[in-house]
Amino acid sequence: MNEKEIVAEEAVKLVEDGMVLGIGSGTTIAVFLEKLGERIKKEGLEVYGVPSSYQSHFLALKAGIRIVDLFEYSELDLCIDGADQIDKNLNCIKGGGGALTREKIVSQASKRFIVIAEERKFVDKLSMPVPIEVIPFAYGHVVRKLQEMGGICKLREGSGKLGPVISDNGNFIIDCNFDEIENPKELELSLNAIAGIVENGIFCNVDEVILGSKDGIKILKR
Ligand code: A5P
Repeated sequence: MNEKEIVAEEAVKLVEDGMVLGIGSGTTIAVFLEKLGERIKKEGLEVYGVPSSYQSHFLALKAGIRIVDLFEYSELDLCIDGADQIDKNLNCIKGGGGALTREKIVSQASKRFIVIAEERKFVDKLSMPVPIEVIPFAYGHVVRKLQEMGGICKLREGSGKLGPVISDNGNFIIDCNFDEIENPKELELSLNAIAGIVENGIFCNVDEVILGSKDGIKILKR
């Protein structure tokens, strides 16, 4: 098994019959959903889920998860998601797949939020560019404000550079480099105070991280 499979398998064990899940996005979550689908089929479990992207929506349907929404369930039992970088205080940077806004919503709506990732993503201090979802109308204004904060902005474009990537919510994504982030919570809040920013990819609400390496898993708890 590779690292993604190791952590996905561990996370699948946490799912109980009747649970309502917040479902993250990305390649690690794709493996999780595949393995959860196998369990659902084998054990005849009833599992409900609120997906955070169209990617995970399709995969969750395929896995036999009943898709529900936050109108029906305002509080979810458990959220499982991947991450791009994780620091020793369990703060994360997420949004490599552009689904950060809905990911943050389902994570906050959940009683327990667990991140699963390869151990190579574990760092001393968060330092990668922060994905920021921006309403297109506000783009120029937001870039100027981010530059004033010392950020170096890059508008996310598709692989053929045919224009900006559009999020599931119809917005742009800016990847903003702040170098090493000394105080993730403070930066998360100040970014969201800029009008036009919908959400940013700094997550300070993780309860538990399951890290996978060739040697097995490590569980870190807040
Ligand atoms: C999606 O927007 C992201 O937040 C993902 O959870 C994150 O990028 C991790 O993705 P992988 O599991 O594909 O590495």
